[in-house]
Amino acid sequence: MAKIVGGIATSHTPTISFALDAKKHDDPVWAPIFKGYEPVQDWLAEKKPDVLFYIFNDHMTSFFIDQYPHFALGVGDEFPPADEGGGPRGIPAIKGDPKLAEHIANGLVADEFDISTFQNKGLDHGCFSPLSLLLPDHKDGWPLKLIPFQIGVLQFPAPTMRRCYKIGRAIRRAIQHYPEDIKVAIAGTGGLSHQVHGERCGFNNTEWDMEFMERLEKDPEGLLDMTHAELAELGGLEGAEIVMWMIMRGALSKDVETTHKAYYLPSMCAIANMVLEERSEDKPEESDEAYLARIHRQTAGVEKLDGTYPFTIGRGVQAFRLNNFLHSLVDPEHRKLFLEDEEASFEKAGLTEEERRLVRERDWQGLIHYGVIFFMLEKLGAVVGTSNLHIYAAMRGQTLEDFQKTRNAQIMYSVAGTDEGKTDWDKPAAE
Ligand SMILES: [Fe+2]
Repeated sequence: MAKIVGGIATSHTPTISFALDAKKHDDPVWAPIFKGYEPVQDWLAEKKPDVLFYIFNDHMTSFFIDQYPHFALGVGDEFPPADEGGGPRGIPAIKGDPKLAEHIANGLVADEFDISTFQNKGLDHGCFSPLSLLLPDHKDGWPLKLIPFQIGVLQFPAPTMRRCYKIGRAIRRAIQHYPEDIKVAIAGTGGLSHQVHGERCGFNNTEWDMEFMERLEKDPEGLLDMTHAELAELGGLEGAEIVMWMIMRGALSKDVETTHKAYYLPSMCAIANMVLEERSEDKPEESDEAYLARIHRQTAGVEKLDGTYPFTIGRGVQAFRLNNFLHSLVDPEHRKLFLEDEEASFEKAGLTEEERRLVRERDWQGLIHYGVIFFMLEKLGAVVGTSNLHIYAAMRGQTLEDFQKTRNAQIMYSVAGTDEGKTDWDKPAAE
């Protein structure tokens, strides 16, 4: 079973990545930043976690107000640095752990947390600014896998301290019941006190920062009733992102010891970090068998249904490229290229030969077997002028005529809109 090897808390200000990328190591004003992270680097080198479960918030880079989730779990294969306006940083992408992420997602949903999942998104300074200093030896690839967990702290209503602590407990359960012998470290990022907007911009409160770090270790549950307003009063509005440290704390045992703590306030936001080591075991209450049965209870038995393929996170990750290609048909420009020169659109999207064949041959059954979700088939049908009924029949291996005999009424439809010629099957045959 997987083991939690401890927790890290760290600020995630762009100051950190700037210091690193601009090579400010020997500048006396910047040097304390590097010094403060050395013990955390040593701790990671000693513990050698296979996976870092990494709690952070995006800063309206890859997550925007057009769709803003509270809890978004990164389930992808790989996460590149995001472009925050001046081009992405010159650091490599980091590998994810889709299998563990799917297990955690199943656990969280079974524990009644309505999470969302993401892949194919860049991670901004909320993730990579401290990560590049926590793991400075990353030029040729990162030494561990990352499961990013993005928390929607920038738009109210935002998740509460209590909710964050509770989801941390649920993450702990999931990891402890993961049936692979791997080591997992938990990192919570954000804070400490700062405010970057409005006339109160520049607010800091070192006294509160110290108190928070102390209580996070010794009495996290005593902080859980604090409101966002109370956190903002003490630590600035953006400083309230320390709720993410509470997720990390919830994922550790009740008894922890701070084995390293650093704090430096050069400009707008304190650059702080902590290493927390577990001092009690807090074994799970359920057996591994009971936990796994519980988190898979909703889909248990579905495998007995012939011709049924639940669209799981695993399928979504494995067949992302092809699903994404077909989903992009909602973009008029991509659709135009696909209709004018299908092969060029395959090439542009980097599809494999098998993926190209499935689309080229409109192999509706094969697409489903490959891991494409039905609603992409429906879109492809609308683009090429095929009705839903044609697709249903083909998936069953029947002619349209035979399939229609199984329906009460022989009607045809599709999701095609106003594009010319896309619903020709609905026109009476020419005389
Ligand atoms: Fe932040």
